[in-house]
Amino acid sequence: MENNIKIDLKATEKFVSEQEFSNYINSALKAFDTLEGRKGKGSEYLGWMNLPSKTSEELISDCEKVAKRWAGVELVVVIGIGGSYLGAKSALDALSHSFQTHLGRKTPQIVFAGQNVSEEYLAELIDLMSVKSVACIVISKSGTTTEPAVAFRIIKNFLEEKYGRRDAAIRIVAITDASKGALKVLADNEGYTTFVIPDDIGGRFSVLTPVGLVPLAVAGFDIRYLLKGAADMENICSERSPDNPAVIYAAIRNALYNNGKKVELLVTYNPKLQYVAEWWKQLFGESEGKEGKGIFPASVNFTSDLHSMGQYIQQGERIIFETVISVKKSNRSLLSNSDSQNLDGLNFISDKHLDVCNKMAELGTKIAHYDGGVPNIKIEIPSINEYNLGSLYYFFEKACGISAYMLGVNPFDQPGVEDYKINMFALLGKPGYEKREQELKGRF
Ligand code: PA5
Repeated sequence: MENNIKIDLKATEKFVSEQEFSNYINSALKAFDTLEGRKGKGSEYLGWMNLPSKTSEELISDCEKVAKRWAGVELVVVIGIGGSYLGAKSALDALSHSFQTHLGRKTPQIVFAGQNVSEEYLAELIDLMSVKSVACIVISKSGTTTEPAVAFRIIKNFLEEKYGRRDAAIRIVAITDASKGALKVLADNEGYTTFVIPDDIGGRFSVLTPVGLVPLAVAGFDIRYLLKGAADMENICSERSPDNPAVIYAAIRNALYNNGKKVELLVTYNPKLQYVAEWWKQLFGESEGKEGKGIFPASVNFTSDLHSMGQYIQQGERIIFETVISVKKSNRSLLSNSDSQNLDGLNFISDKHLDVCNKMAELGTKIAHYDGGVPNIKIEIPSINEYNLGSLYYFFEKACGISAYMLGVNPFDQPGVEDYKINMFALLGKPGYEKREQELKGRF
């Protein structure tokens, strides 16, 4: 099996010596042992590690059955936040035609809710739901996360009013905890089709569970191919070797971090990958940002953001390194054309593929940023499809586990996320939070 993810570290060599890198590879291999040996912090949450190779045919065909059942549905609202949102959103954006809504493609249009509490957003979504045939996938492991729970209350109510309670139940799929949790109880009471988020898989590691699989299947994508890519990468990343791509990536980012590069910019050159970067930010940010430590994960989409963030990256504080997701081959072909007036002076690129221009922008930027003090890690995938995306998700998950153990933190908890929730509940007057409410009122 060929490794479809190629890592190029040439543009980091000026910043990390060969000897230093080799030391970091050794620490990465130790962290790899901790992860594989299930001996590290949070090791009760390692269900994602062998998930791709262990996903049952039954689960895959259950996902596909939902897609068949909803074949005539025009709009599917996927409700979820954080790890119960970004995986599906990133895969759908990456794989879909950029303008499929405008083209009126046949597969149901997928939209998201519950990832914010904007009144305007949800009210406008209801405008859309009012003129379409609608179904809903609600994703929440706990079932009590405020944002999706609020959205689901409203959308469930809307569906019941529109279709009646019994028909609404056929139009709702719940993806939640196996046994505990409010959503599980509701789903059982109402008779919704239910999928399980395994207990040993946290939200940000759940893209290859039904959390990602059901929305993707419903949107008409090949989830078998996605899982095949992930399973092949699972195999590659299980090797205890300095050539393991997850080991290499974990090693270099920790080496750069300890050399003062505190911010990692995930760079994409295709707008379809912007949400892959959002997913990646959550994965690394929530896994590593704790105990006063962690690389700050940020992202840019070039060339757009070269016209907004390019100046800072080139000449601002020298605390940044870049990790570029480079896509070798574009799925579409389009040539630049010649113009008889040539007023913009661009005839020199006529008859060139736009992807060649994009690649030269990528190389030119890499050299400019490198010369300006920004190390560059290149992660190349052959093209954007289900297989390569599955590989990429798994690769980043494995690298994240290794990298966080190198840093000495628990990759699988997120204690800091609770603080805002407690304040929000107190400020909204949730019973039991009265003391906190008094403490907060009058501040700011
Ligand atoms: O990674 C995480 O654990 C979080 O982002 C959660 O997925 C997010 O808070 C949603 O939680 P839940 O699925 O319980 O609604």
